[in-house]
Amino acid sequence: MFCQAPVLWDRARDFQVYDAFGNMWLDWTSGVLVANVGHANPKVKQAIVETVQKDLLHTFAFPNAIREALIGRLIDKAPPPLDKVYLFTTGSETTECAIKLARTYGQTLDPDKIVILTFENAFHGRTLGAQMAGGIPSLKRWIKEPAPGFYQVPFPDGFRTQKYTFSDFLGSIARYGLDPHRIAGVMLESYQGGGASFAPIDFVQSLRAWCDAHEIQLIFDEVQAGFGRTGRYFAFEHYQVVPDMICCGKGMSSSLPISALIGKSVIMDLQEAGEMTSTHAGNPVCCAAALASLEIIDDEDLVEKAENLGRILHEELGKLDHGMIGAVHGKGLVAGLHIVAPTTGEPDSARAAEIVYQCFIRGLLLFAPLGFAGATIKICPPLTITEEALKEGVEVLDQAVRVVLKTPELVH
Ligand SMILES: Cc1ncc(COP(=O)(O)O)c(C=O)c1O
Repeated sequence: MFCQAPVLWDRARDFQVYDAFGNMWLDWTSGVLVANVGHANPKVKQAIVETVQKDLLHTFAFPNAIREALIGRLIDKAPPPLDKVYLFTTGSETTECAIKLARTYGQTLDPDKIVILTFENAFHGRTLGAQMAGGIPSLKRWIKEPAPGFYQVPFPDGFRTQKYTFSDFLGSIARYGLDPHRIAGVMLESYQGGGASFAPIDFVQSLRAWCDAHEIQLIFDEVQAGFGRTGRYFAFEHYQVVPDMICCGKGMSSSLPISALIGKSVIMDLQEAGEMTSTHAGNPVCCAAALASLEIIDDEDLVEKAENLGRILHEELGKLDHGMIGAVHGKGLVAGLHIVAPTTGEPDSARAAEIVYQCFIRGLLLFAPLGFAGATIKICPPLTITEEALKEGVEVLDQAVRVVLKTPELVH
């Protein structure tokens, strides 16, 4: 983590981060898109403390009422026919599980139906299956002997991949020599995390229809995008389609590690009882944190708030000096500024890093640039941020962009 701004977190409250030396930052990271209801939300803290104090720290194979309530709420939020949930600890476990279930189901239809199709530049986690499904070649070098059955096609992000229609998608599959009867699942991030980039709605709707026609499971990786972040409860709602499986994590608890795969019985029941285990899955303290966090999202209308504040954020970002900003992607309270060299339009990771640094020294905390060529600045504050703080943050960003534009010698 040495690539990040040197902040030694002492505590974080709502949308502010503090060190022990009297410094405070406006947080535009939400940890890593985790603190949707704000850092250390009092109701989340209370739920954690109450569960610990009643001595319910672990139940593993045995149910507990908090877990049951959480699962009920997730099913209520998911569109029918998605009616079952597996709980896990990390986002990677959910994408691994989705791959496993899609392949298992595929083989009930045809022994060769095992292919998992994903998108270039996608990120689905760091474990073996998740990295095979990922679309960032440099992250896969360590695998050396890739597992068979994973293919990636371009993602129509509208900036780096300007024109990629659904017929181009079909062309990519044909070039791989893949017949749809061999494809078990297509997995995509609802927006690509690296650039906060959405696919065109008609592309995803065509994808849904094509998956239906060929009995292919459509999996949305909502690990980063879910729970209000984009101004919808789940970000796939922007496409007006219903997935076959939803991978959730990060913002689900706004705090402790917990994740979930939501799917329909016909897929989720493929594993025998007791066969889909993970020691810390459904931990009652983590479930209590998640349940409280999901209650706050509803009680405080945070989805609507993210949509409204998101409109303001994107409007304000549109006013920045665009000499170095190739594109602004995202919806709701997530945005990706694609920083480019003013003369060539090529991704400029050095300028992006300097902008982040200039924000940091002015009290605005951002991640180190990421995404395509490491040149995207990601904006993702807690959904509880105020309009005033959001606008103040954009002012700071504006100053940082101007400083970097006018002082090229700062950029190394
Ligand atoms: C879209 C997406 N999928 C999966 C993951 C992996 O989640 P985890 O780090 O909890 O394993 C991440 C994490 O950044 C993510 O952004």
